[in-house]
Amino acid sequence: MLKRLFSNLANKNVAVVGLSYGDEGKAKIVDVLAANRDIVCRFSGGSNAGHSVVVNNKKTIFRLLPSGALHKDKLCILGHGMVIDPKVLKTEIELLTDGGLQVKNRVYIANNAHIVMPYHFLIDEAREKTISDIGTTKKGIGPAYEDKIRRTGIRMEDLLDQDILEKKIENSLKHWEPILRHFSLPVYSAKTMAQQYHEYGDYFASNVHDTVNYLNTTMKSIVFEGAQGAGLDIDNGTYPYVTSSSASVGGILTGTGVSHKKIHEVIGVIKAYSTRVGGGPFSTEINNDVADRIREIGAEYGSVTKRPRRVGWLDLPEIKKAIQINGVDNIALTKIDVLSTLPEIKVKTHDGADLMTIPGWESNITACTNFKDMPEKAKCFVKLIQECLETKVSMISIGCERDAIIHI
Ligand code: IMP
Repeated sequence: MLKRLFSNLANKNVAVVGLSYGDEGKAKIVDVLAANRDIVCRFSGGSNAGHSVVVNNKKTIFRLLPSGALHKDKLCILGHGMVIDPKVLKTEIELLTDGGLQVKNRVYIANNAHIVMPYHFLIDEAREKTISDIGTTKKGIGPAYEDKIRRTGIRMEDLLDQDILEKKIENSLKHWEPILRHFSLPVYSAKTMAQQYHEYGDYFASNVHDTVNYLNTTMKSIVFEGAQGAGLDIDNGTYPYVTSSSASVGGILTGTGVSHKKIHEVIGVIKAYSTRVGGGPFSTEINNDVADRIREIGAEYGSVTKRPRRVGWLDLPEIKKAIQINGVDNIALTKIDVLSTLPEIKVKTHDGADLMTIPGWESNITACTNFKDMPEKAKCFVKLIQECLETKVSMISIGCERDAIIHI
């Protein structure tokens, strides 16, 4: 009886969302939680994401596939809130297959997910070089979502029929052609693009499904995997320095079509310090050698763009707002080991007040297997976070590897 109760609890559907500006270490948490679940489902964003999972010293960076894909029996769903670059997805699948992991037969792609077309990333890049200071990843994400909202987008199911695809590309180009010409960019013919993208349609035909119906009717357990973070959310983030999708829990409902009743627990992921790539406000940013030290130890360079990430201290009031918006039940705190050599650590605990300085633990914590083994000063840091956020820290990641995690 007790065993059944426990296994039911372990199999709750869980959402994993970033509470900062992305790069919080969500992928590792998703990978850990996926071990006890059946399905891992992305719901927003596209190949702007670079989700890293390290197993036995081998790092895999997921761009479009959900981060639970390394577990060989998990179903991987790409929800319709995503924008999908089929070229990137095909490469990702082939790389895993070449490495000995079969994944193609367990990928479901929403029939109504939108496609990132070649003109989307050309325009994203051209805008970044000229008129924009957002600092996008130049993966065509913004222009693909523009097409979706304008109702001129290309969807996954359109790739399956070359004639329909050509007509839809022609329609989309009515908007983009003058812009491509304005930036002196090549204008490929709708026919050529339809031929090329129909080939992707052939390749993915067996993966395209009505995922809304599937997700709402399945009895299997699900991890919903967020991309980016609350600060980059199109509505709740630091607009206009945001991505173009809903990176918060709300994005699960719109980006997969599941009922809110399907989300049983929300885990908010934060790093022990903050980072941000691209432009936009960053109230706790550090501009001295401490930032360089954290960046080097924490390997804070974009997984997709390789750009050095801006580094700052934790901004707890901002995270508290993200907790409210996302209805976070528990916190996963990552990369605490990166701070292990610092003599002191700063934290923003209140808006308008000076940052609080606390002593560092200055010792290696990577061998700790439970919370009580951790140095007292590290425990105080975790307790401070917990108290300020009024939310339990239930997982602490103390290294890159899958098993370098403390459950409390
Ligand atoms: P876009 O999503 O490529 O349009 O970029 C918009 C903003 O979101 C830029 O500041 C990017 O650096 C940021 N961004 C997008 N995806 C990620 C991510 O996965 N991690 C961190 N920042 C991201």
